[in-house]
Amino acid sequence: MQTMKIKMTINTKAYEMDMDVRKSLMDLLRELGYTSVKHGCGVGECGACTVLVDDIPIDSCLYLAVWANNCAIRTTEGECRDGKLSTVQNAYVEEGAVQCGFCTPGLIMTTTSFLEKNKGRNVNHDEIRVGHAGNLCRCTGYQTIINAVKRARKK
Ligand code: FES
Ligand code: FES
Repeated sequence: MQTMKIKMTINTKAYEMDMDVRKSLMDLLRELGYTSVKHGCGVGECGACTVLVDDIPIDSCLYLAVWANNCAIRTTEGECRDGKLSTVQNAYVEEGAVQCGFCTPGLIMTTTSFLEKNKGRNVNHDEIRVGHAGNLCRCTGYQTIINAVKRARKK
């Protein structure tokens, strides 16, 4: 097995480790206990494994852990502060945008990145839809998800 020494932060916690060069970032995060990162399709189609790498959303199932060397990773677990949900997390709860919940952690990270990138802009309905097109919800509750994005944007 070929390994490489890598460093990264995950939700501000620093890690340094020898990494199997074939391991996906999704598998690494789940093994470290960040189980909000879901293994859905495993082939880059569903977005359930979405995390932020240096604030950019990526499908962690297709992303090698060694590519995240020296990067800052964010997962849904890290968006809570002092035991309180983030604005985006709260908006999902308040709009009832969670059914089985399998897609929700990935969607929350996509929404978080989308709103950070569009800070100060009045994004419209279509922009929200396109901005979340990489995340599938098998329960198909898309309207409440869009409502949650709109609610979080207002705050
Ligand atoms: S599990 Fe990564 S995109 Fe579906
Ligand atoms: S809430 Fe079930 S897959 Fe989205």
